[in-house]
Amino acid sequence: MISFDYLTHTRGFLTCEKVAQYYKKTDSFLAKLESGKEDMTDWYDISKTISKNEVKDIITLANEIKKNADVLVVVGIGGSYAGSNAIIEALSPYFNTNKTKVIFAGTDLSSEYLIQLASYLKDKDFYINVISKSGNTLEVKLAFDFLYNITKEKYKSDYKKRIIITTDKDKGNLRQLANKENFTSFIIPDKIGGRFSALTPAGLFPVAVSGIDIERLLEGAGFAKKYVPQAVDYAITRHILLTKNRVVEGLTFYEKKLNGFALWTQQLLGESLGKNQSGVLPIINRNTTNLHSIGQFIQDGSKILFETVIKVNSGQDLIINNTSLNNINNIAISAVATAHANGNVPSLIISLDKLNEENLGELIYFYFIATSICGYLQSVNPFDQPGVEEYKRLIKEKMNESN
Ligand code: PA5
Repeated sequence: MISFDYLTHTRGFLTCEKVAQYYKKTDSFLAKLESGKEDMTDWYDISKTISKNEVKDIITLANEIKKNADVLVVVGIGGSYAGSNAIIEALSPYFNTNKTKVIFAGTDLSSEYLIQLASYLKDKDFYINVISKSGNTLEVKLAFDFLYNITKEKYKSDYKKRIIITTDKDKGNLRQLANKENFTSFIIPDKIGGRFSALTPAGLFPVAVSGIDIERLLEGAGFAKKYVPQAVDYAITRHILLTKNRVVEGLTFYEKKLNGFALWTQQLLGESLGKNQSGVLPIINRNTTNLHSIGQFIQDGSKILFETVIKVNSGQDLIINNTSLNNINNIAISAVATAHANGNVPSLIISLDKLNEENLGELIYFYFIATSICGYLQSVNPFDQPGVEEYKRLIKEKMNESN
């Protein structure tokens, strides 16, 4: 269960009346989402993100890999990486003893990482899952080419069983390769962009291999339409704060398992909404760690920021010196939000009753809705990313020059 509170720690920045003024505006956008007529919004209808048969196939293959392999290497970047990383980190034990480890590659251009990964894989039984909607992303292509050769060398004629491709149904190099080599493949639906693909096979296959129940995640997301009004409130409050020059959002959490989730929301919000010289810059803010670091800035520095706190209401608790550590963590959350409100820094609080599959599925869906409504309020298209083309063009140009 999720709840969203924009009133307790915002001191007059936000009132029910101010938020309600925007409802009429958002209604027409919601109607478009509901009608299925808005482009790139198939994520809105959870039955379009993944079929029952795909879920079955994913679970069957994941079980086989969990039984046999030491490692699944997931090769992907951006939306083809951040969702599964977020879910796995949030729902796995801190010191995971699973037989099969899920590790990531293709998230940068580090030679050192790939060299060391190759040596780590030498005596391991492994599978590769390359994930790319376009099939054309530089980091992913290079890491996959490298790992593909290693897989071929190690497994000889058996290598085909070791490679799983997740990509577009018809388009791109990876689809061609999957068809040519007859690799097992999963589909990223055409009308779902990378950063909205956490609940498609792109996100769910690595998650299933890590031992998380993907059916419960999907069940949570399937129920999440009931949170549309709260997601609308979140989008509107972000928008009102932006109009008041609060251009930085501290994505704040007090359970470090949520670091990957904060990275995912940072990507979703940042890549969707930083457009046309506007938008809020999302930054990761892990507490209480950062209270001994940028907490000083948040309390007392330039007034450019607001916080969105993800609070987990219950979980494993430890009693130290007759005191509940969870209780102290909750006291810290409330004291910090009050202190920041006193310093003219508003906090929005999203609470989960606990950190489990259903709630995370709901929260992911909540963020999809909120992000698209923010885009609508800002008059930008949340589903494209034209700003990343310039660096890509320059890399290509310089690579051609150096060849
Ligand atoms: O959200 C997005 O569209 C991007 O972050 C992409 O996911 C990222 O660039 C990777 O693209 P691809 O899946 O085509 O390799």
